[in-house]
Amino acid sequence: GTGPLVDAFNRRISYLRLSVTDRCDLRCTYCMPEKMQFLPRKDVLSLEELHKLSLGMMQRGITKIRLTGGEPLVRRDMMDLVRALGRHVGQGLEELTLTTNGTRLAEFADDLARAGVKRVNVSLDTLDAEVFAELSRRDRLEAVLEGIAAARTAGLKVKINTVALKGVNEAMIPQMIGWAHGEGHDLTLIEVMPLGDVDGDRVDHYLPLTAVRDVLDQRFTLTPSSATTGGPARYFDVEETGGRVGLISPLTNNFCAGCNRIRVTATGQLYACLGGAERVDLRAALRSDDPDRQLEAALNEAMRIKPEKHHFRIDERGAMPAQPRHMSMTGG
Ligand code: GTP
Ligand code: 5AD
Ligand code: SF4
Repeated sequence: GTGPLVDAFNRRISYLRLSVTDRCDLRCTYCMPEKMQFLPRKDVLSLEELHKLSLGMMQRGITKIRLTGGEPLVRRDMMDLVRALGRHVGQGLEELTLTTNGTRLAEFADDLARAGVKRVNVSLDTLDAEVFAELSRRDRLEAVLEGIAAARTAGLKVKINTVALKGVNEAMIPQMIGWAHGEGHDLTLIEVMPLGDVDGDRVDHYLPLTAVRDVLDQRFTLTPSSATTGGPARYFDVEETGGRVGLISPLTNNFCAGCNRIRVTATGQLYACLGGAERVDLRAALRSDDPDRQLEAALNEAMRIKPEKHHFRIDERGAMPAQPRHMSMTGG
């Protein structure tokens, strides 16, 4: 069919996470190795292909597009795509947004706001410059903080994404919440997921949010919030700060029953689930001699193969069986 995207478990798919590049100017240890081999240019979808793909998806009922990477703002001429998609905001598209590491936000915040972006998610795991440099292997905390400030000045809503890491930023989580809320930003905590080369570290640093919740309950009064963003986070209002904390707990609280999303890599591979290998090749469809028909068929196939849930888990031996694919391929 050519109607709305509905999968085999009767979930309506309305949220597209579109990775526009596998490149990044940081090297967060949980996301990629220091010596990352980036893709050759010809393998990556062109801006025109990304645009065509997005329009095709919108015709099938996608109402929210989140641009991811790698780092979306390192892609050259990225704003051309943002402006082109931004024209659909309010007419078909309910939300056009980005997940960014923030290093280049100071440069782009105004342009993003003008193009129709209303909010951005910024990844920030610590406010300590040394810990930041260790975690991301680059000394860029200052640039990120400037980027976040510029986003606010430009009128963008900012949500801070913080991956909870045992023994790394664990002790700073309440402080980060206090800071974010003081600046007027919500903050979402995320359980680290086993994607890419999962070395010993990843398991050692895994911090279940059930444990974080206990710590937060001693410091703050959390009440479940009715707020939702159409993403996997469960939100809580924090009485003491007036802000909101989101919890994304793929390991301790599976949210797959309400899944509304698909993700496309920079090479046009649609992954039906972040935690699975099921995929269809949209690039082949786009580069075929009948792109419209092929794209339609590929999307139908994606709905057929989308799994019921992910299989991230801690096994009996305390290990985290990994997906070989890097997070930077799928943008989360
Ligand atoms: P909003 O709800 O729109 O603010 O965004 P979001 O939380 O959907 O997106 P964001 O890019 O900020 O992602 C936050 C975290 O959620 C990342 O670690 C993603 O990998 C994770 N995430 C998003 N969607 C899924 C999903 O379907 N499954 C799993 N396991 N994780 C997801
Ligand atoms: N597990 C959980 N979250 C991750 N992110 C990147 N890699 C991982 C991982 N292995 C987060 C980033 C960003 C979001 C898109 O995903 O910090 O905020
Ligand atoms: Fe949906 Fe897969 Fe994410 Fe679960 S892990 S919420 S099934 S995309």
